[in-house]
Amino acid sequence: MFAKTETIQNKSKNCVFAFFCPRLSLTFYNLCCTLTKQIIQAFFVLYSVCTNFAIVIIIDTKIINFTDMNNFQDLVVNRRSIRKYTDQELNGDNVKKILESALISPSSKSKMPWEFVVVEDKNVLIQLKECKQFGTKPLESCPLAVVICADPTVSDVWIEDASVAAFMIQLQAADFGLGSCWVQVRDRFMENGDPSEEYVRNILNIPDHIRVLCIVTLGYKDEDRKPYDLSKNKWEKIHIGQW
Ligand SMILES: Cc1cc2nc3c(=O)[nH]c(=O)nc-3n(C[C@H](O)[C@H](O)[C@H](O)COP(=O)(O)O)c2cc1C
Repeated sequence: MFAKTETIQNKSKNCVFAFFCPRLSLTFYNLCCTLTKQIIQAFFVLYSVCTNFAIVIIIDTKIINFTDMNNFQDLVVNRRSIRKYTDQELNGDNVKKILESALISPSSKSKMPWEFVVVEDKNVLIQLKECKQFGTKPLESCPLAVVICADPTVSDVWIEDASVAAFMIQLQAADFGLGSCWVQVRDRFMENGDPSEEYVRNILNIPDHIRVLCIVTLGYKDEDRKPYDLSKNKWEKIHIGQW
């Protein structure tokens, strides 16, 4: 499959493998991290012109390093809660992958006590918005929401397990460039004092013994949020060795 191997001039040892496979070229393009995109783009365009649909994968290099977590930190720094979404429907494949990621979240004793209700019906989303008085704005415009539930008879630490799964959904969504927001349901109340959980359970026909933790809204972003500034991290919260 390797059509050509080259070494590019760089202080680190870079191996450049060229494949003649047009379908992979988009994947490669997407892999380029922000900082290095221009360098790679320029190289890629030039190289593609020369080799007609060639793609180049650079392995073990400071340009694109598949083994370090720099790209993951970029994702974490840029992930912000998004409460306003465009009308655009979500790509079914992305939704499937988001749910796949949720279903393989780590859980205590691998009990996987969670259950997910995927809601796309606009009328139902608007009904869900009424589950509490404040903090439900994301449900107003999102095209899809995942209601994060869990069975407490399966795991005593269902809250932790379901929380991890909920955030896994948020991270996977961020990886697809989608916005998301956690809308708390457990221990929240409606304007009339009724528990938000009961309201959500009734709307979605969720069995009585199943708890509702939160609703994660998903959609294409219709607002800009600033990335986190790592220099503002509260390092005083880190206690080394002992408090
Ligand atoms: C447990 C939990 C409950 C939250 N509940 C709500 C909520 O009900 N409504 C909402 O709009 N955002 C909610 N959020 C999102 C937080 O407001 C948000 O994560 C926080 O302000 C930090 O902003 P960021 O997500 O952009 O980093 C919740 C987040 C967590 C982790």
